[in-house]
Amino acid sequence: MTAALCPATPLHAAVLAGLHATAFAHPWSAEEFATLLADPTVFGLIATDGDHPCGLVLFRTVLDEAEVLTVGVPPQQRRQGLAAALMSAALATATTRGAAQVFLEVADSNAAAQGLYLRLGFTAAGRRKKYYRTADGGQEDAVVMVRPLP
Ligand SMILES: CC(C)(COP(=O)(O)OP(=O)(O)OC[C@H]1O[C@@H](n2cnc3c(N)ncnc32)[C@H](O)[C@@H]1OP(=O)(O)O)[C@@H](O)C(=O)NCCC(=O)NCCS
Repeated sequence: MTAALCPATPLHAAVLAGLHATAFAHPWSAEEFATLLADPTVFGLIATDGDHPCGLVLFRTVLDEAEVLTVGVPPQQRRQGLAAALMSAALATATTRGAAQVFLEVADSNAAAQGLYLRLGFTAAGRRKKYYRTADGGQEDAVVMVRPLP
């Protein structure tokens, strides 16, 4: 799919919350997105297909480090290259903001996201034990992944 990517602002908070709710079991609220995007260390992108939002990504950059805060695509629009396009554009923006490496945490069982990140050049760098709470009340490790930026 050829999607347009546009910068996310606090005015997009409700759209971002709606997108996030399609992709995650524990969605972030519009207020949380508005607060994040009012922070100058945070930037985001929205993918749109015509008038329809179809993906989001948020990064934080502090000094020479970037962090992936979230990336998601609605289930019916997956495997069309949208997350890869969003991530690639965000990685380029992180570089222009001065980041030299980017890191993220991903749930141990999240094969789709780990596949995406491996394809984009991330490598596993460690684990955070019992980092996530699962829907059934359990706990799950996070895999920490890193990638240098050009
Ligand atoms: C992970 C996610 C963002 C991927 O979005 P997407 O738009 O489907 O990803 P893309 O189409 O850009 O995929 C790019 C590559 O990632 C890998 N990938 C994506 N989905 C995959 C899957 N289900 N299984 C294995 N690899 C996968 C593949 O290498 C893929 O390339 P290919 O389609 O040519 O094989 C999406 O599944 C999602 O929103 N999941 C729920 C939210 C989430 O887990 N976010 C990450 C939190 S850390």
